Amino acid sequence: MQRIGIIGCGYVGLVTAACLADAGSSVLCADSDKRKIAKLKSEGVPFYEPGLDELVLKNHKAKRLRFTSSTTEVVKGSDIIFICVGTPSRSDGSADLTAVEKVATDIAHAMDAYKIIVEKSTVPAETGARIRKTIEMAGRGKTEFDVVSNPEFLREGQAIHDTMHPDRIVLGVESKRAEKTLRALYAPLRAPVIVCNIATAEIIKHACNSFLATKISFINAIARICELVDADVLKVAEAMGLDKRIGPAFLNAGAGYGGSCFPKDVDAFIHLADQKGYDFELAKAVRKINTDQRTLLLKKIEEVLWNVKGKTVAVLGLSFKPDTDDLRNSVALDVVRALQDLGALVRAYDPKAMPKAKTELKSVRFAKDAYDAAKGSHCLLLMTEWAEFRDLDLGRIHKLMQQPVIVDARNFFDPETVKVQGFTYRGIGRGASAPQPRR
Ligand code: UGA
Repeated sequence: MQRIGIIGCGYVGLVTAACLADAGSSVLCADSDKRKIAKLKSEGVPFYEPGLDELVLKNHKAKRLRFTSSTTEVVKGSDIIFICVGTPSRSDGSADLTAVEKVATDIAHAMDAYKIIVEKSTVPAETGARIRKTIEMAGRGKTEFDVVSNPEFLREGQAIHDTMHPDRIVLGVESKRAEKTLRALYAPLRAPVIVCNIATAEIIKHACNSFLATKISFINAIARICELVDADVLKVAEAMGLDKRIGPAFLNAGAGYGGSCFPKDVDAFIHLADQKGYDFELAKAVRKINTDQRTLLLKKIEEVLWNVKGKTVAVLGLSFKPDTDDLRNSVALDVVRALQDLGALVRAYDPKAMPKAKTELKSVRFAKDAYDAAKGSHCLLLMTEWAEFRDLDLGRIHKLMQQPVIVDARNFFDPETVKVQGFTYRGIGRGASAPQPRR
């Protein structure tokens, strides 16, 4: 049985570790953040991901999943080492790969036998080659190793399911030996395996995320046209999605994409292409449409409220999408801040993200539930489509509000139902009477 090492206990690292441990592997995880390791050893997962706490606890108790703050310990005690550290955006859009380089150097110093080093963090093309060079230079060629690019495609909120039931496994390899070992590791998942060179695997990851972002921006652009001609984007998306060549996923028009992946990866892909001399205009347009969605949403709120100053907006949902408490690049946070700049008072409620939001947002009145948020407000703004909002008693919300207005940034409500309840309703791309952002 191969011993697994994981360096970096964020979403990708921790989910990979817990799933591999649950499948029977012995997994040792390291993170440079000692507080995180202490928390993982005692209290559990430091963020909300459905099912992960239980999986980590179960496998930690069974001693298949262990934690340390020493990278050296992980390297010495593992045959396969997954690099899962963060690759944040720099101000020019490129990925900051300092943490990847540091881990590669640490691995080189601690390596005492053949190792397979798997790059799982999302990185631009040619990072695998850089990792190889770094290890060769720092380790002075003393120990044999292989680098593999094995990009991760899990979604937050469904991370365990996505890891256990992947659509495909991508293996960017440079030797048959590494390919054989990784194929055996993933065999229980029974997923199609794509074997390619390292640069191809790196491009696959960026291409997938950018394509999904493109689908979202495409439908958001269609939504704008729908508003101009009195058409309904939901019907357009439904009909488009039934075409098997297009498919229904990621055609939900809304406030635009957020999170720690799409904005960063589209930026990094544009930057990589620029560096290589290709002007990736399509990706630039995708990014611009996404940014413009925020402006459009604010205009919608201004149009329906007239003067925003002094009015109270009840914001439902703060995380970048449902089933996570992740606030990174959350459109909701940007919109809350913009509303405050316009002089609005904000009351907000989110089922899971409020503890984190309290450290990010100032002067927001955090409510105990959606009804508490709606109390005395002039506009109910739905930003994140949490399932629990399905059961809202709209009649009760109507009574609690100062004026019955719903702006639905995720096309979550049925316009007819809310109109029957007496609300003025604005969705995204659901007919005429919506303002367009200035060019
Ligand atoms: C995304 C990808 O879906 C994963 O495959 C990938 O592994 C991950 O990035 C990553 O690179 O680590 P994630 O960021 O967790 O996963 O979330 P998504 O479910 O893809 O949603 C991203 C954003 O797009 C959210 O803000 C969501 O609200 C928005 N979205 C999604 C739409 O606006 N419309 C849609 O139709 C779908």
